[in-house]
Amino acid sequence: MSIRTASDAVQAALEAARWAPSVHNTQPWSFAVSGDEIGLRADTERRLRVGDPAGRELLISCGAALFNLRTAIRRAGFEPVVRVLPDPDRPSLLALVRPGGETEPDEQTRVLAGEIERRRTHRSGFTTLPVPDRLVQALVRTAEEEGAGLLALAPPAVVAVAALTEAAQIAQSEDRGRHLEVVRWARPPGSSRRDGVPAGAYPHDEPRTEPAFAQRDYAWRHEWGSPADQAGSTSPGVVMVLTTAADTREDWLKAGQALQRVLLRASAYGVSAAFHTQVLEMEHLRAFLREELCDGAYPQMIMRLGITFDDAETVRRPVSDLLR
Ligand SMILES: Cc1cc2nc3c(=O)[nH]c(=O)nc-3n(C[C@H](O)[C@H](O)[C@H](O)COP(=O)(O)O)c2cc1C
Repeated sequence: MSIRTASDAVQAALEAARWAPSVHNTQPWSFAVSGDEIGLRADTERRLRVGDPAGRELLISCGAALFNLRTAIRRAGFEPVVRVLPDPDRPSLLALVRPGGETEPDEQTRVLAGEIERRRTHRSGFTTLPVPDRLVQALVRTAEEEGAGLLALAPPAVVAVAALTEAAQIAQSEDRGRHLEVVRWARPPGSSRRDGVPAGAYPHDEPRTEPAFAQRDYAWRHEWGSPADQAGSTSPGVVMVLTTAADTREDWLKAGQALQRVLLRASAYGVSAAFHTQVLEMEHLRAFLREELCDGAYPQMIMRLGITFDDAETVRRPVSDLLR
């Protein structure tokens, strides 16, 4: 059933936006609705001051929310009209979005919209079921349609990125400021908070893939995390890097929109993603990755794509908490 009024489309869009992925589930966004126009704002109180001082990951997260706004408005039967970074004097105002002319949603929009609430981040190995090459190629084109690049890494590059991830994870766990920031966003079991990474969203034991990809240490010294999956999934999946040609705030928003479009499309084919962005939070390692493996393009996300039958837990704040 399609939604008929622009104001219904706005409500559906706000509901969809909150399901975007965000670094440590910080949900660093807020919304101001004026008539039928949604202002998407960066909630800089939720920025990772140590891990993300420039707000790059914050803007990628908000870019993913922007893609959900666009998709939900189109799904509701309106062409989304978007102005990105509309006012240089208000840098926290990331986009103005409103329903424009009426349009019949196409099949792709319906499919992507249907995945918004279903998609989950995976934090372990994948089954050995292959991700079809044709899907990988389609995901590369999907990222390009949003103005970003997506590289599928060859085996030697996968080994190199796994080693860089390990090095970054060790360095971060030994850095008190960085480490405490991750702990701050770990959500304890039974907590009533509606943000942070829940204990049911990662395995209790460090997953063993070959090569091994270090996970963030959300549990720290606690016995948190779900039991190992019975299938003993050990495949790393297809390792991919999302890139942009430049590294401005606009590029970060672009990367976020491309990311979410790729994730929703993959999810529609039963393919999930795991992320390992520790390397990208350390400028020297990020520069190395850029020069050695990305042909000079700026790496924005590192992810593994594969097939899993696990259900990860996640939480979100209600729309009423997001309105300003
Ligand atoms: C910019 C960005 C960086 C992320 N980095 C990581 C990461 O390094 N490790 C990880 O396990 N998840 C990472 N994530 C995934 C988030 O933790 C996840 O989206 C959030 O906890 C919400 O969970 P959900 O995606 O299952 O809804 C990242 C997400 C974004 C948008």
